[in-house]
Parts: sequence; C-alpha cells; structure tokens
Amino acid sequence: MTGVGALEAPIGVFDSGLGGLTVLRALHERLPGEDLVYFGDTARVPYGTKGAKTVRAFAQQDAGLLVSRGVKMVVVACNTASAFALDHLREILPVPVLGVINPGVRTALAATSGGAVGVIGTSGTIRSEKYQAGLAEGGLGEGQIVAQECPLFVPLLEEGLQSHRMTDLAIEEYLAPMRSAEVDTLILGCTHYPLLKDEIAHFMGPEVKLVDSADALAAAAQERLQELDLLRPEVAAERAGELSFLLSDIPWKFPEIGARFLGQPIENMKTVGLDEMEEAGHAMEQL
Ligand code: DGL
Repeated sequence: MTGVGALEAPIGVFDSGLGGLTVLRALHERLPGEDLVYFGDTARVPYGTKGAKTVRAFAQQDAGLLVSRGVKMVVVACNTASAFALDHLREILPVPVLGVINPGVRTALAATSGGAVGVIGTSGTIRSEKYQAGLAEGGLGEGQIVAQECPLFVPLLEEGLQSHRMTDLAIEEYLAPMRSAEVDTLILGCTHYPLLKDEIAHFMGPEVKLVDSADALAAAAQERLQELDLLRPEVAAERAGELSFLLSDIPWKFPEIGARFLGQPIENMKTVGLDEMEEAGHAMEQL
C-alpha cells in the first residue's frame, strides 16, 4: 500500500493460532507507537501437521483478511506458514510481507562460532527444509546443520505445561541429539518455543546460544519499515500503539493461555467467519 495514510496504518500479524502472540509481543516492545492487528486462525490450528498446499491456502486467506483491514505490512508470525507460503504471499500481496525464517537464519549465522547450528520446529517447518537451506546458503556444511521436529511442544505449551515433568521429558527426547551434536546455536523455529527458553537453556547448557525467532523478526520488521519510510515518526513513538485481535474461533482457554503468550491481558477480540476468510483469500487473486 502506498499513498495517504499508509504511515498511520496498522501492521498486520498473522499466525495459525495463539503462538504468534509471542511475535506480537516482541513487535509491540520494539515498536510501541505502532498499531498492530493480529489475526489468529484458531479455528484451523495447527498448521504444523498439515501439508504445504493447505497451509498456503490458509495463509493466503489470513493475509488477505489483514489486507482487507488496511494494514501497511503483513508479518507472517507462523514459522510453518513462513516456510510454505512466504514466496507465494510476496507475489500476490499489495503490501510488503515479512516472514520469520530469514531473520532467524541471519541471527543464527551471526551468533554461531563455527560449530553446528540446530533448528527445532513443527513437522511442517522442519520438513520444508527452509531453515536448513538458509543456513546452507549462509555457508554451513551439511554436518553443521542439525534439525529436529518437536511436535509435542505446541500442545504441551497450549495446555500451560511449561514447567512440568512431561515437558521436561519431551525436551530430553527431542534435544538429546542436539546436545550430542554439540550445537553452539539453536534456533527456536516455532512461535511457541520462546516460552520454553529457560527450560531449553537449562537442558542445553549456558554455552549454547538460543535464537528467538520472535525477536529476530521484530528487529527485521523495524528495519524494513525504516527502509520503506513506513515507520511512524519518533514523536509518534510516544503514543501507545493499539493492539486488536481477530480470531476465527475463540477457544475455551484462549484468554488465559493467550495472555501468557502476550504477557498482558487480551482485549478487543473479534471473531471472523470462515466465509469472510475465503472471500479475503479470493480477493487476493483478483489484485
Ligand atoms: N505457529 C506454528 C509455527 O510457528 C505452531 C503452531 C501450529 O502448528 O500451527 O510453526
């Protein structure tokens, strides 16, 4: 979007569900003067177990919905959607689109001290091999890239079991190979994993650097908005940006678990019907 009003327009952020609230939180902390509109596809979550075609179709609708709300940029908070749909969205959307994978890869390449780099994520993200390809392009050899899907982390965290022995067991099961491979940097390639940072750091040991893709993405969004002259001016940074929430369903535990991911209570929630989502997806094809 260009033209009058683009600067004051909100930034749109979407995710498969509530996990992207960690990205929204990082964006709000970094860009407190910007208005942020979040869309969570809570009716169709998870994306991490679904095939590429389905994720791409859902992502088109999610992004289309945000565009219909007049956003100046779309941030794909979901790693799985970034893996399968980013290139497609960049082709069809009329606004800049930012995904979570490149910022995470760049941060990891800057952090590693020449050892191996690990990446963990949903089955879809890891099987897409997008993180692995980015790390390889950045100069890492095959033996320096260790990838692991961790499908149980998402449901455990959505049940609020962050500090629980079931989660400790899952961490041990998934991350023991990372520890044996002596990775020096580990990318938390899923919206939910920043919530497990302390537990993962404890298991991996203090020498392993953890790359939080939410922080990396927020920094990249700031940079991109600056380049495009779309960042609200300094004076406006003193205003408190508004947060609003669109959801395709309000699951029973959303307000409680969502507040934990966001770090503050969730207000201004509205639901969007799947028919409106479909229309928004089609509208993107007609641009
Ligand atoms: N948001 C997803 C991701 O970052 C995790 C949840 C899901 O599987 O939909 O990959």
